[in-house]
Amino acid sequence: MSDPERVRVETKGGIAWLTINRPEKLNALDRRTMQEIDEAVGAAGQDPAIGALIVTGMGEKAFVAGADISELATQSPVEGAAYARRGQDILMRLERLGKPSIAALNGYALGGGLELALACTLRLAAETAKLGQPEVALGILPGYGGTQRLSRLVGPGRALELILTGEPIDAREAHRIGLVNRVVPAADLPAAAESVARTLLSRGPVALRYALQAVHEGLQMTLSEGLAMEAALFGLTCATEDMREGTRAFIEKRKPVFKGR
Ligand code: COA
Repeated sequence: MSDPERVRVETKGGIAWLTINRPEKLNALDRRTMQEIDEAVGAAGQDPAIGALIVTGMGEKAFVAGADISELATQSPVEGAAYARRGQDILMRLERLGKPSIAALNGYALGGGLELALACTLRLAAETAKLGQPEVALGILPGYGGTQRLSRLVGPGRALELILTGEPIDAREAHRIGLVNRVVPAADLPAAAESVARTLLSRGPVALRYALQAVHEGLQMTLSEGLAMEAALFGLTCATEDMREGTRAFIEKRKPVFKGR
């Protein structure tokens, strides 16, 4: 029997669903799975028909239970640094795709799984999800961006508690600290993710791209630099057909039809 694909890609009405498909290992991220994530994200980025991504895990138990521990266990220091860098690069391409992505957390989102979710634009969690950075229990630290994105999202105090205790939190607590945007019953998660994606698809695609750029790049700038960039991107949107369509549709009391131009 041939080895099944590790990332299933299904495109429905402008949304690319990426399902991490290794349920017998709780969707743990081995090299091949990371490679397939990279390919699927790259293809979704290139496809003009796709406006948003939803990333989720196969089965009911796990979104992704981390990087593959059996691969980690055999690495030399040089290999470990390259492994972390490659994973970081893949997740950076997802974060900076110019299209919004939603992590639909259908169960355990641990270690590299939480880091994958942190690289997505938004996070929706099933009530049953458990989130954490348990790496210190293995004698390592998060290596796919967890120390950086988690502290930017929830603040260093809460990030350090998660990273240093290694203890997972449930979906409600994750919502309380701002780690996930919404919590829904597990059975409702796909529909909830799709509904948020549909809202995003109804907005001006160029505006979404520049808003993502403004937030992500602005986080690395001083306030003055960030404001200057925001003004420049705002000016650029004023040159788009989407801007003319959006403002005209408002005045004409109808829904806009954006073309992403
Ligand atoms: N890497 C590799 N394999 C993993 C894995 C990971 N991160 N997480 C789970 N698996 C595998 C288990 O080894 C097991 O495989 P096996 O059936 O061949 O023995 C299978 O997935 C099922 O996991 P299991 O541990 O039996 O499920 P559980 O319900 O008892 O426990 C967890 C679930 C999530 C608590 C537990 O799997 C776990 O702690 N996983 C590791 C989490 C982690 O440390 N992630 C960070 C990695 S850097």
